[in-house]
Amino acid sequence: SARPYVIDEMISAKAIAARIEELCREIQEEFQGTDKLVVVGLLRGSFVFIADLVRELDLPIEVDFLEASSYGDGMESSREVRILKDLRGAIEGRDVLVVEDIVDTGHTLNHVTGLLKSRQPARLKSIALLDKPSRREVDFKASWTGFEIPDEFVVGYGIDFAQRNRNLPFIGSVRFTDA
Ligand code: PRP
Ligand code: MN
Ligand code: MG
Repeated sequence: SARPYVIDEMISAKAIAARIEELCREIQEEFQGTDKLVVVGLLRGSFVFIADLVRELDLPIEVDFLEASSYGDGMESSREVRILKDLRGAIEGRDVLVVEDIVDTGHTLNHVTGLLKSRQPARLKSIALLDKPSRREVDFKASWTGFEIPDEFVVGYGIDFAQRNRNLPFIGSVRFTDA
């Protein structure tokens, strides 16, 4: 962005780690006994979350990725979800967990879960670290949510603003300083 901004910490790395431990207990309960869980990360935003999540998950898993993009470099959803890279493996008859960083308008996860459902997995669940329910444009709720957050533009822990700040270890909110 050409506009100057600062980033205020909203959710600490420690709080994220603690929440992931809780979520993994619930996921393990749900998929107990599975011999075939495919954990699908949505690139790019989920790459940090999925890395922490799978290392905390005591289940036999495979990891696959799908790249979807709707925001580009802007702050506004295009509402048009493009699949830039599909899964490598087939998911028919398999247990699938889709991992996403944030549900905002809901278009991305709604579109992707619809697409994956059409491939007839045995079970299809989704998890989003963050949820902004006040921004929803389509009726979508992830199976698990880490934190509900207010309508602020967030970055870090995989989430970008114009492709930057994905490497911050915490979730922060963007505050413009020229306003
Ligand atoms: C962001 C974010 C989610 C999606 C959420 O991805 O990572 O995937 O938008 O917004 P929505 O609920 O309004 O669809 P983005 O399109 O920026 O791609 P990226 O993951 O590569 O940053
Ligand atoms: Mn994304
Ligand atoms: Mg993005």
